[in-house]
Amino acid sequence: MSTTDRVQDHGGETRHHEAPLRASDVLASGSVPVHVACVMDGNGRWASARGLPRTEGHAAGEAALLDAVEGGLELGIRWMTMFAFSTENWRRPADEVRYLMGFNESLLARRRDELNEKGVRIRFAGRRDWRVPRRVLRRMDESIALTQHNRRMTLTMAFNYGGRAEIVDAVRRLVEDGVPASKVDEKAIRSRLYFPDQPDPDLVVRTSGEYRISNFLLWELAYSELFFADVLWPDFRREHLFAAVREYQRRQRRYGGVT
Ligand code: IPE
Ligand code: IPE
Ligand code: MG
Repeated sequence: MSTTDRVQDHGGETRHHEAPLRASDVLASGSVPVHVACVMDGNGRWASARGLPRTEGHAAGEAALLDAVEGGLELGIRWMTMFAFSTENWRRPADEVRYLMGFNESLLARRRDELNEKGVRIRFAGRRDWRVPRRVLRRMDESIALTQHNRRMTLTMAFNYGGRAEIVDAVRRLVEDGVPASKVDEKAIRSRLYFPDQPDPDLVVRTSGEYRISNFLLWELAYSELFFADVLWPDFRREHLFAAVREYQRRQRRYGGVT
């Protein structure tokens, strides 16, 4: 970001930074979240503003995704979850859905080696249903297998993911496992979510000035700190992540208790 760039927080307050925030500034000012989740939103509007088809916005979002992950690695963030395609995104025009399937598949093909070399473990949260083309599933499986031993960061792509669908799937498994009503508790549900080993997100970042959750990680974000930024996803860069983490460091988490 240049010196004239602004970072807006959810309150609409605009702060001017003298110089771009650096990872070292963030690391010096407090602890970093263990798990950051992002709703990568605003691709379509980014493209429309340039007179381009919406699909060009998705393509431009690739650089933002990679830069956000790079920034996360610089900060030592151990878990990042990125919302790439929701269970509701099937409602979009068939052309856009087809593009998104092919785009996500080719993104994995292009980027998995680079992510692997950086020590990133790639996983996918979501339903592997009949609507997801086989070649996309194959590419997902290859990426999982290639990176399965990496531990520097776990990058979970939420793909054909819905928070409600995840809870429904957990409840189905409870029933399949024959768990009696008296044994249904939070632990029983949590252990049946897609990734029970994953800590809940400490921080959720949503771009594009929309102040909603859109069915992302409904169970997991019960006590997450929320950060909303006006930047459209294709313009998102690690400096925006750093700004979100700086804001996170100023928050006081109480989990319903008192301090
Ligand atoms: C986010 O950008 C990407 C996906 C949901 C796949 P959008 O495509 O939602 O872009 P806007 O919100 O219409 O601008
Ligand atoms: C959420 O964005 C899903 C992803 C970013 C993949 P949407 O653009 O689908 O959400 P709404 O429709 O604005 O709530
Ligand atoms: Mg959107």
